[in-house]
Amino acid sequence: MADSQNSNCGRIRTLTIRYPLSAIRFGSPHRGFPLCATQNNRVTSGARYGNGKRWRRAPARPLNGHRWSDTGAWTTSQNGIRPWGFCMQLDGKLVAITGSGRGIGRAMALAFAQKRANLALIDLNAEDLSQTRALCEAEGVRATSYICNVTREDDVGATLDQIVADFGRLDVMINNAGITKDGLLVKVHEGKVVNKMSLDQWRAVVDVNLTGVFLGAREAAVRMIGLGNGGVIISTSSISRVGNMGQSNYSATKAGVAAMNVVWAKELARYGIRTGAIAPGFTRTEILDAMKPEMIERAVSAVPLRRMGEPAEMAHAAIFIAENDYFSGRVLEVDGGQRL
Ligand SMILES: NC(=O)c1ccc[n+]([C@@H]2O[C@H](COP(=O)([O-])OP(=O)(O)OC[C@H]3O[C@@H](n4cnc5c(N)ncnc54)[C@H](O)[C@@H]3O)[C@@H](O)[C@H]2O)c1
Repeated sequence: MADSQNSNCGRIRTLTIRYPLSAIRFGSPHRGFPLCATQNNRVTSGARYGNGKRWRRAPARPLNGHRWSDTGAWTTSQNGIRPWGFCMQLDGKLVAITGSGRGIGRAMALAFAQKRANLALIDLNAEDLSQTRALCEAEGVRATSYICNVTREDDVGATLDQIVADFGRLDVMINNAGITKDGLLVKVHEGKVVNKMSLDQWRAVVDVNLTGVFLGAREAAVRMIGLGNGGVIISTSSISRVGNMGQSNYSATKAGVAAMNVVWAKELARYGIRTGAIAPGFTRTEILDAMKPEMIERAVSAVPLRRMGEPAEMAHAAIFIAENDYFSGRVLEVDGGQRL
């Protein structure tokens, strides 16, 4: 389904006339020839773009929901072709967010609503969801809530089917739901092991933070490919992915999310799907309720900016990833300069 916003793009032009030397030498943000122009609202398949050693044909469709950005570095006079500066316009797009009942997920929903995107809000908690929904609707966009447990394969599939049925599109999928169940691998008191991280503790976190992200991304990719419009899959990792004390389970899942983000960038680019992960530092949300105040204080004192992050600051990163069409497969760290 082509997007009418692409209608300002014209036909493919001769490289020598239309492109400055720098474009020929360095290529475009789409790697290689910057000749992805459109005809009748579609990117023509005549354009080619490079991928390492091989040349491939450009997708027969635009990476939909996108249009040439006003920030394009160069433009032709006649048809408004802007060979780079391709930027997703969020107005009217559909953004699905897991864990959007509260915290960072809610802030993301609000930020996308302020960009005039419609929202599919996914969470376990109906009451929290209705509050997020009201906040989004107050921004004048359409928002719908879906109760879904991201650990359950059938639940995730059915929810995404319903979202596509309700909105007719899926442009951005944000796999944000996450939990912590911290504990030392082994706790020792006076030379004796008195506790250890239980298998339940391990599995619960793996189920939500890793399997939940895997299912969300997989099912979103299936539907994005089916719709033929491309899209963006964003996942929430953490600065703890490098290995944080007391978080064997959590750190493992967040490292897994960062790795899957790279895999999916490579596997899904050919379908016009980009990926991105956000690694928040300590952020002021209810997830920290499980931490003792003195632990939070100690953690904050290790942050160069000497404060916790705000959910809106994480949401800002999600907007950047969604909008920037040359961002894929990377983790954006939003941590006040903290390194664990
Ligand atoms: N707050 C932080 O300091 C921090 C730091 C790094 C990473 N993160 C990550 O950011 C994400 C959001 O964290 P937050 O601080 O907003 O947490 P939060 O606890 O405030 O919100 C998490 C949301 O996920 C939902 N959720 C949990 N399990 C679910 C399930 N099985 N299915 C559907 N929804 C489920 C919860 O109901 C809740 O609304 C998480 O992935 C978290 O690991 C948070």
